[in-house]
Amino acid sequence: MQIIRAGEDVTAVRRALRGTLALVPTMGALHAGHLRLVQEAKRQAERVAATIFVNPLQFGPDEDLGRYPRQEARDLRLLEEAGCDLLWLPGAGDLYPDGFATSVSVTGISERWEGEARPGHFAGVATVVAKLLIAVAPDVALFGEKDFQQLAVIRRMVRDLSLPVEIVGVPTVRDEDGLALSSRNAYLSDEERARSVALPRALAEAAEAIRGGRAVEGALAEGRGRLLEAGFSGIDYFALVDAASLEPLTEVRAEMRLIVAAVIGPTRLIDNFPV
Ligand code: PAF
Repeated sequence: MQIIRAGEDVTAVRRALRGTLALVPTMGALHAGHLRLVQEAKRQAERVAATIFVNPLQFGPDEDLGRYPRQEARDLRLLEEAGCDLLWLPGAGDLYPDGFATSVSVTGISERWEGEARPGHFAGVATVVAKLLIAVAPDVALFGEKDFQQLAVIRRMVRDLSLPVEIVGVPTVRDEDGLALSSRNAYLSDEERARSVALPRALAEAAEAIRGGRAVEGALAEGRGRLLEAGFSGIDYFALVDAASLEPLTEVRAEMRLIVAAVIGPTRLIDNFPV
């Protein structure tokens, strides 16, 4: 695996690369969900590149930028073993040169749900992803469905800016008990981790109920109740949305998704389920 570090010229390396290229952008602290992205990337293209960059633009002032898990040596080993060909570890100065003043903002779809709870988050994501896609110029880029709204925002941005890349969403990888893998699960105490299983269970039950013809509002209220019973201290949203526009739904449609963000102890978890 070729490694390009901060200050080195990714464009020259990219130009020298032959064959189709798939990109897996990450913030490191890799888990099996990321490795599934690499695996899928290998099916999609002849070469696979990954990036690791903990993007300060997508963290709010009170969020966890400073303590976001950083495990570079382990990440490098995992990517190498997974068969990644190229890894770019840009520094902040490579992506945001002095005086950086440009932001990519995707209106509408960015404004609800995570956008409401985390103002500025999706502009930070869209800006860095646009820069990574332009610098690496892959044929395909892969993102996990775990961050379902992020995937929708990136698809919109790529269409709107006519970026010549195909965006592929990859299903969420879950622990045996159903909790979606996330680098932020590392923040959970053993007790919080045990209680967190209520999140996928509440989603699965609500999905099942809606599929079985239960009124949407009732199924959602029951799901919220289950989370509070399990010890979640707050629920930012537990909603049924249109899978493409992410507009809230009160009645069933063809393509729907259940989405949730809830807080357990000091940690905010998100998840989603198809219906
Ligand atoms: O999903 C992530 O890890 C990040 O939001 C991404 C897409 C790498 C942008 O920083």
